[in-house]
Amino acid sequence: MTETPPFTVLADDTAYAEAVQLAVDSAAAYYADGTSTIDDDAYDRLVRGIQAYEEAHPEAVLPSSPTGKVAAGAVVGDVPHTVPMLSLDNVFGAEQLADWVAGLERRIGRPVTAWSVEPKLDGLAISARYRHGRLTQLVTRGDGTAGEDVSHAIGTVVGLPDRLADAVTVELRGEVMMTTSQFEEACAKRQAHDGTTFANPRSAAAGTLRTRERPYVCELTFFGYGVVPPPDDDSELATRLRELPHSEIMRWVAAQGVQTTAATPVAGIVAETLERVQERIGEIAATRPELPFGIDGIVIKCDLAADQAEAGFSSRAPRWAIAYKLPATEKITKLIGVEWNTGRTGVIAPRAVLEPVKLDGSTVTYATLHNVADITRRGLMLGDSVTVYKAGDVIPRVEAPVVHLRTGDEQPIPIPQVCPACGDAIDRSQERWRCVRGRGCQAIASIIYAVGRDQLDIEGLAENRIKQMLDAGLITDFADLFFLTREQLLDLERMGETSTDNLLAAIEQAKARPLSRVFAALGVRGTGRSMSRRIARHFATMDAIRAAGAEAIQQVEGIGPEKAPVVVAELIELAPLIDKLVQAGVNMTEPGATPPAEGDPVLSGLPLASMSVVVTGAMTGPLATLSRNEVNELIERAGGKASSSVSAKTSLLVAGEKAGSKRAKAETLGVRIVSPEEFAAEVSAFL
Ligand code: IVH
Repeated sequence: MTETPPFTVLADDTAYAEAVQLAVDSAAAYYADGTSTIDDDAYDRLVRGIQAYEEAHPEAVLPSSPTGKVAAGAVVGDVPHTVPMLSLDNVFGAEQLADWVAGLERRIGRPVTAWSVEPKLDGLAISARYRHGRLTQLVTRGDGTAGEDVSHAIGTVVGLPDRLADAVTVELRGEVMMTTSQFEEACAKRQAHDGTTFANPRSAAAGTLRTRERPYVCELTFFGYGVVPPPDDDSELATRLRELPHSEIMRWVAAQGVQTTAATPVAGIVAETLERVQERIGEIAATRPELPFGIDGIVIKCDLAADQAEAGFSSRAPRWAIAYKLPATEKITKLIGVEWNTGRTGVIAPRAVLEPVKLDGSTVTYATLHNVADITRRGLMLGDSVTVYKAGDVIPRVEAPVVHLRTGDEQPIPIPQVCPACGDAIDRSQERWRCVRGRGCQAIASIIYAVGRDQLDIEGLAENRIKQMLDAGLITDFADLFFLTREQLLDLERMGETSTDNLLAAIEQAKARPLSRVFAALGVRGTGRSMSRRIARHFATMDAIRAAGAEAIQQVEGIGPEKAPVVVAELIELAPLIDKLVQAGVNMTEPGATPPAEGDPVLSGLPLASMSVVVTGAMTGPLATLSRNEVNELIERAGGKASSSVSAKTSLLVAGEKAGSKRAKAETLGVRIVSPEEFAAEVSAFL
């Protein structure tokens, strides 16, 4: 056990405001259901740090500070709300939701036939007061009865215009948050200012909203979810806003020039049945990992004013709305180490070793840390508490250190001075560091990959055999395999005549593989198996690929302006290897594809034209002998796009035996599901 200082040292008003927000949030979560993300010890240190800062800076004390309050005090502000800003009750699954609906329908004595289903935005509730169409005041939720004036943020919140389309006097209610790009930008600004970053978009938004003076300005985003007309206003508009269905009100809000979620992939919809509500919940949940902002659930509201009026309110929350909570995708854990590995292409990549943490259905122990620049940008240190993000199939990644939880024991992360694999020098000219030996550093890894089942598929060429050949100087790369002689192989230890002849035959066979597999064998950075297939189908010949510039490469689906120049540079680097393959007589064309000059292959007549297909579970029937890669190749021959995860965009799921979560997700999303046998029949011409 290491001794830790008795309190967290807070550097400035920003760190202080964030610490206050974190303490208040943690206390609120703790008193509500015990789910605080920080442990008791860390919480105590945090509050003592807040106290120490307040003693030194009495002028900076925030009204919401937890110090000296019972149960850390719910946030109190000095601006009373015209109508209380309430919370929402929660449900955690389909059954609980159905129970809640049944209870509500009993209460109002009739079935609800219009539900508004919208995302639960993960930010801070705010009330934006407009007088005669002008934005005059911003108030936080506070304890629901009174909030804090944060009008200083006016002008920095995207989606919250200074003027509405009409000269109306209303209060708009909604969520203030940071989008992913606003968060990145805010982190960069803070990094440049004091060398630290924000823990996550929510705390960045909280800190930004509540810090009055900061030498740099960070942009925020607003999404509206409700309107409150002044309570004593009985004008035509106020009356109309009280009587309109929620969905109509949101259209009015958007027409005033205020941002709503309408233009996002998770736009609010009106559902007539509980089944449709559940389906929409599935769709929103499936879209979550790709959204450019955070959501932590789905809010289901009675759409009709009459239903809302009948249901009424409890002291805490409306009875006509409920939050369907989604599992957390972010947690705080400790960064206990950083491992450095040199990959197949010579890239040196750090990997975070974490104190294991349960996240979105799995235990996370390792997480991506991209590159050295990423570590410095985020100011990470060993021993830091870090926010870790994982959702769906996304690879877990370390988001940022939680600066307020520093104890003073954190250590700098050792950065390698030489290649961790071979000890040679490091090429630091690009953000992604590489061993100066490039692919040569991990030749064995490149060759194992190239001869693998989904690439050249050379049977009988195990790792120890490849090592033997490398050690004997017979090969330096996988193209050399095609020049091996019978005598050379027989000379190797433990290599008999039969195995030699079998291996030579397997190598000979590999020469005829389609271009997509030969290209995949090259291991071009940023292109895996499916990207290799797309490139090969698009260009049809290796000559056409090599002749393509960055612009032409971008015509391939999935290759953007960032990846294209990397692919071009890689092909230049790989030129000697490709030349050697050509010389050996390895096939360099893709069967059935035509080069782009003669027009893109016409896919529309194919059975899977423009369909996105996912395969899961064990294949049976005619597909039983195919590897997953071969099934994907089949999908693409038939005009479809093979994908590995089920989303709202999936057209078809081929579900074999033991299909698990993907099948469940497809069912929720209403994606068509077929058996391997049915699928084989649909694409039999391409088998
Ligand atoms: S309706 C009286 N709609 O969730 C109705 N709230 O847990 C309450 N939130 O304080 C608000 N997205 O900050 C509503 N689409 C949405 C929301 C939403 C996020 C927040 C809001 C509220 C909290 C309650």
